[in-house]
Amino acid sequence: MRLPRGFADDVKNQGDIVRVVSDYVSLKKRGANYLACCPFHSEKTPSFTVHAGKGLFKCFGCGAGGSIFDFVMRIEGCGFPESVRIVAQKSGIPIPVVEETEDHKKIARDRDNILRLNEWAAEFFGLQLNDTDEGAGAREYVRSRGIKEESAKLFRFGYAPDSWDALTNHLKDRGATTDEIHNSGLAVLKDTGGVYDRFRARLIFPITDPQGRVIAFGGRVMGDGEPKYLNSPETAVYTKGHNLFGLAHSKNEIRNLGFAILVEGYLDCIIPFQEGIHNIVASLGTALTDNQVRLLRRYMDQPQIVVNFDPDSAGQAATMRSIDVLLAEGFKVNILRMPTKQDPDAFVRAHGVDRFRELLKTTQPYIDYIIDTSIAGHDTSRPTGKVAAINAMLPHLARMRDKVARADYAGQIADRLKIDSHIVREELKRTATNRQPSLDNKRVRAAEEITVGERQLLELMLANQEVRRAMKQCHRVSLRQSR
Ligand code: GTP
Ligand code: MN
Repeated sequence: MRLPRGFADDVKNQGDIVRVVSDYVSLKKRGANYLACCPFHSEKTPSFTVHAGKGLFKCFGCGAGGSIFDFVMRIEGCGFPESVRIVAQKSGIPIPVVEETEDHKKIARDRDNILRLNEWAAEFFGLQLNDTDEGAGAREYVRSRGIKEESAKLFRFGYAPDSWDALTNHLKDRGATTDEIHNSGLAVLKDTGGVYDRFRARLIFPITDPQGRVIAFGGRVMGDGEPKYLNSPETAVYTKGHNLFGLAHSKNEIRNLGFAILVEGYLDCIIPFQEGIHNIVASLGTALTDNQVRLLRRYMDQPQIVVNFDPDSAGQAATMRSIDVLLAEGFKVNILRMPTKQDPDAFVRAHGVDRFRELLKTTQPYIDYIIDTSIAGHDTSRPTGKVAAINAMLPHLARMRDKVARADYAGQIADRLKIDSHIVREELKRTATNRQPSLDNKRVRAAEEITVGERQLLELMLANQEVRRAMKQCHRVSLRQSR
């Protein structure tokens, strides 16, 4: 529902900031102001103040501050219109009904319908998993994946029975029309008219928005089969790449700790979560989008993230792409690389959450990660490999703002590649002034450090016929081996 023009100002003037904030933190009166422990960072002595007269809040610990709407947007993770509505409601200000166009009304109606059907479906799937004989196999599968009952409940796991119409019939019984069921994505339209259940014989993971409303579903085959995961199509309430799995449960801890852990899959999020890692979200295998990053940023003043994707080539490519998106949105980015070939789910199950916590302390700044993977991805024993490695990392290095750190990294790269450091710094400058990396083999070969002593030694050796003959022999052998 839309809000009338000027309503936000009315709410701001009439709204009671003390009453609204009191719903979230316990305020103590101190003179003209109110004081509490800040809900946006963790602290023991209160530095969060509310100025009733001005209608403002301010934390002298973490710097959070602003209007009553800013407060609600932060703590609820909602947008501005929603915050106006919440403040109005909590302050007892009636929300006027505006005449809406037919289009607006229809969109709002469609969205409400889908959310209602999704909720019914989540209940249905949950019942199938927990309270039916047919659900036994799925319950066993859940157990076999190390998922505790409490997390299956919290994340509202379900089971879609092996049937073409069980859910559709259930929804119809509750009053849904075929059209509504089709629009929700829970069923697929048949060529001959009518619909059939999209999710069949799968373990169901509801996907929610940050407020916990079910906006879509993911369904996993139990055992082998294609596709491994089946998802809801895009609907009026669900756009791929606009959500992060688990955020409804992790938003508070992300706010408290000031950073988020980003993983790929459902279970990479759920398994660490149930072991106590509560600031974790999953991108669900898609390349991270700027929508997802902006969503996450709402919960942090100085947004920080640890990217912990799978240790395979897909995960590595996804990590590289996510770095760019995250930096563009102002995140401090660290990378957690698994020391084993396991994803976070498998790692935590095999080695325990304490080992995972230790890994969290040893994450590397994204630039170190880029340097490492660029070097590992090329044969840097050869000049061509060095060139390729440097060209892969230079654009990232050039984008770093901190000059001192940048020069330091240039030195590290030169050391690791055994080339003259001022060549790297020079290339860096050229790249930074918006030129394509122009490093070529010749320049690197010339830059490979070779001392005067080494050069003289080589000259002496090459002057000797026996050495020359031995070298030719070596060369032939290595040529044959490289074929
Ligand atoms: P498990 O095998 O259940 O542990 O899944 P995983 O999360 O380890 O799977 P994987 O690393 O292969 O994929 C990571 C994420 O990508 C999954 O959690 C899904 O969100 C998504 N994904 C994987 N396979 C598919 C698929 O076949 N279709 C779709 N739509 N998404 C997939
Ligand atoms: Mn997995």
